[in-house]
Amino acid sequence: MKTVIAALDRDAPDLTVIRQAGELIRSGGLVAFPTETVYGLGGDALNPEAAKKIYNAKGRPSDNPLIVHIADPAGLDFIARDIPENARETVNRLWPGPLTIILPKKEIVPKETTGGLDTVAVRFPANKIAALFIQAAGGFVAAPSANRSGRPSPTRAAHVAEDLDGKIDMILDGGDTAIGLESTIVDFTADPPVILRPGYYDAETIANIAGSVVYRRSLTHVEDDQAPKAPGMKYRHYAPKGEMFLMEGSPESVARYVNRMLREQTKTGKRVAVICAKEHAAAYRGGIVISPGSLTNEEEIAGNLFDALRQADTSGADVIYSETFYTERLGEAVMNRLFKAAGGSVIRVM
Ligand code: TXA
Ligand code: MG
Repeated sequence: MKTVIAALDRDAPDLTVIRQAGELIRSGGLVAFPTETVYGLGGDALNPEAAKKIYNAKGRPSDNPLIVHIADPAGLDFIARDIPENARETVNRLWPGPLTIILPKKEIVPKETTGGLDTVAVRFPANKIAALFIQAAGGFVAAPSANRSGRPSPTRAAHVAEDLDGKIDMILDGGDTAIGLESTIVDFTADPPVILRPGYYDAETIANIAGSVVYRRSLTHVEDDQAPKAPGMKYRHYAPKGEMFLMEGSPESVARYVNRMLREQTKTGKRVAVICAKEHAAAYRGGIVISPGSLTNEEEIAGNLFDALRQADTSGADVIYSETFYTERLGEAVMNRLFKAAGGSVIRVM
């Protein structure tokens, strides 16, 4: 299949293109589109065949549920039931925005969309192209991140094309996404609600609105890894092709260790990449040094994280060492992605 790539102005998108994209969804096709978090791979959320096509294009297991994207808060009551007051309050305050909520589903949502579950994930993204597209598509667009299963989420149209060119009908190119990490997922079928995936909104922000929220440390740390998670969290994720290690310790001891490994592994013919804060880039001697951003700008780090993981891939690195980024507000979300990319492999140095 030929994938049409349409460049759009993010503030004033061409409505003819939006209409075409909406038409494609209504007739059962797949369209990738920008949101404020990452690009999504959209299909009609109320059409079971479209869900199957999404799983196929992504190479994703079909028991991993999809998020239903809406562009009008009224859409929530159309697909979800038994909505508690604190869930309403939370979406009133944070939608449109990088927040997904889990609720019991209504009959109209096919099990194919929810990976067989009786619950549905709902999100109202804050992106003009996304909103117009969802409306044009009929109001309910199922969309996982628009990457091949297991690869880093796409933050620009070129990432989507890398993974899905020839497998989907269209890509709406709205430039780089504003946030760069996927939405915070909160499960409101539990009381108190539970954060299943950390994102741009941290636990404190959610708790301040919802009354309280359960946040498990195991989402960002390897120890006590027993907690229930979003079904998608059990799969290998964001993983670059090279073997990846997370480095814990002071910047000096990390650089000393990594430089020693750089010398040894380069001798044996291995390509080594380092993912580090801009401040530390000069401390690494050789190798492929990739910096998502500065420690003084956590939004920059979050925004460039997935691109850094993709760069590590395209550089052909056999081994990747990454620093940790426990920044104030987004650190939990960033470290959750890095832990999964590294498959939980951590090296602690003194
Ligand atoms: O920011 C985002 O959320 C992006 C953009 C495109 O909106 N979407 C996204 O979708 O990240 P995806 O499919 O890559 O991740 C959705 C996660 C998965 O881990 C999935 O298992 C979980 O949400 N999820 C979906 N429905 C669920 C449900 N009913 N119960 C529990 N977890 C659910
Ligand atoms: Mg994903």
